[in-house]
Amino acid sequence: MNEKDAMTLAAEAREAAAASYSPYSGYPVGAALLARDGSVWRGCNVENASYGLTMCAERTALFKAVSEGRRDFAAIAIAGGTPDAPAVPCGACRQALAEFCTPETPVVVVPLSGGGPVVRTLGDYLPHAFGFPSK
Ligand code: THU
Repeated sequence: MNEKDAMTLAAEAREAAAASYSPYSGYPVGAALLARDGSVWRGCNVENASYGLTMCAERTALFKAVSEGRRDFAAIAIAGGTPDAPAVPCGACRQALAEFCTPETPVVVVPLSGGGPVVRTLGDYLPHAFGFPSK
C-alpha cells in the first residue's frame, strides 16, 4: 500500500474518531475499513458504564461492513493515541480481523493528530492466527 492511499484511509479513520463515545477512558479511536468493492466502513469505539461491554473502533467498522454484506477487505486504518504512542489494534480486534482478512492485509496506524501513518500487515500484528482448518 502506497503512502498516499495510506494517508487517505488514515484521514477517514481520523474523521471516524470524531463520533467516538469514550467518556470513561477519554481515549477516542476511529477506524476505516476498505472493502474490495471500494466502499469504506467507518467505526469508532463505543464505551459503556459496564466497562467490559465496550466495543473497539475496529470491530465496530468490521461488524458494520459484514452485516451489510461485505466480506472481502483490502486494508484497515486506525486513528488514536499520540505521535509517541499511536493506537494499535487490541488482541480481540486482531483475531476478529483475521476472520475476514489475510496475513498480508495492510494495517495503517496513525495518531489522532500529528505524525504520519505507519503501515504494517495483519500478520505482523497477529502471527500464527488461529483459524479452523476447514475454512
Ligand atoms: N480501543 C479501540 O477502540 N481500539 C483499539 O485498538 C484499542 C482500544 C478503545 C477501547 C476503549 O474504548 C479505549 O480505546 C481505551 O482502551
